[in-house]
Amino acid sequence: MSQRSTVILGTGSYAPARVLSNAELAQTIDSSDEWIHTRSGIRERRIAAPGEMTSDMAVVAAKNALEDAKLTAADIDLLIVATITPDLPMPAAACIIQHKLGLPTATACFDLNAACSGFIYAFDTACAMLSSGRYRKALVIGVEKLSSIVDWQDRTTCVLFGDGAGAVVVGLSDQPGVGLIGTKLGAYGESVDLLYIPAGGSSRPASGTSVSAGDHFIKMKGKEVFKMAVRAMEESARDILEQHGLTATQIGLVIPHQANLRIIEAIAQYLELPMDRFFVNVDRYGNTSAASIPIALDEARRSGRIRAGDITLLVAFGAGLTYGSALIRW
Ligand code: UT7
Repeated sequence: MSQRSTVILGTGSYAPARVLSNAELAQTIDSSDEWIHTRSGIRERRIAAPGEMTSDMAVVAAKNALEDAKLTAADIDLLIVATITPDLPMPAAACIIQHKLGLPTATACFDLNAACSGFIYAFDTACAMLSSGRYRKALVIGVEKLSSIVDWQDRTTCVLFGDGAGAVVVGLSDQPGVGLIGTKLGAYGESVDLLYIPAGGSSRPASGTSVSAGDHFIKMKGKEVFKMAVRAMEESARDILEQHGLTATQIGLVIPHQANLRIIEAIAQYLELPMDRFFVNVDRYGNTSAASIPIALDEARRSGRIRAGDITLLVAFGAGLTYGSALIRW
């Protein structure tokens, strides 16, 4: 019996209307548009409106993806939400999103935390669950409201992050040669303390002390994370290409996690590919963690950067420290 392939049937994304430019940010911290742009490639980021929740952003992206796939909420039986910023510590954002979207009760709903690699982890999980034959159509969402966990006084982190959502609808196909070619996931768990939130979990529950110490905000050792990001994304890209007997020149478009333009340039150099083979929107959104790849994927598709028959490489790296890559043929 031949295995059916898993294919992306539609994509969607959403970014909040509020644009926060480097120049505006530099009025509140000791920084400048020049420093931020030179070091990261970021010009501006989007910030959720007061009261706009992670689930609200996810719902808009998901509706766009369903419309693109010409499907309705009733068609979905699996929802995976990659996020580190759910509306509530519990229950899962997926359950809130299920309700807001009107997905059937018989939908498996859960969140997945792999930080910036979250979308690739969630996509891989959805593809595996669909391939099992026990689910028909999945909605995979990467969404973050990082503005809620960023310390706006910490210039080493607050300039980097933004809010947004991206979504894909995944289904099964009998068409040979299309869909997911493969994935490669991993983590360097020994490096948790390079990028983490110290309090609010079971090891250090919220207290007056943890709040006044600012320990509910993202802490990052930027230089070390930068080096590991480059190494992990290069290795992950090389491994997945080797595993599937492909060379970098066969990749139509690379969609990397949008954390820093210099990280993307280093990967381009390593793969010996020109920058025009890389999709870049970090200048407009900053780092939106799990939302970064699905937003970029949606923009790439809608702007005609991906055509039938193309091979796309997704590659990401994030807190954990997790990494992941995926190869897709359209
Ligand atoms: O999604 C994955 C997670 N995150 C990442 O991938 C981020 C990885 N890291 C990076 O992108 C970069 O390390 C940063 C953009 C965070 C920083 O760039 P860098 O070239 O590594 O700068 P640095 O941390 O070495 O800082 C250089 C200087 C320091 O001053 P001194 O010690 O040389 O006097 C910083 O204090 O720049 C200072 N600095 C700033 N200056 C102006 C740090 N942040 C800022 C700022 N504005 N926002």
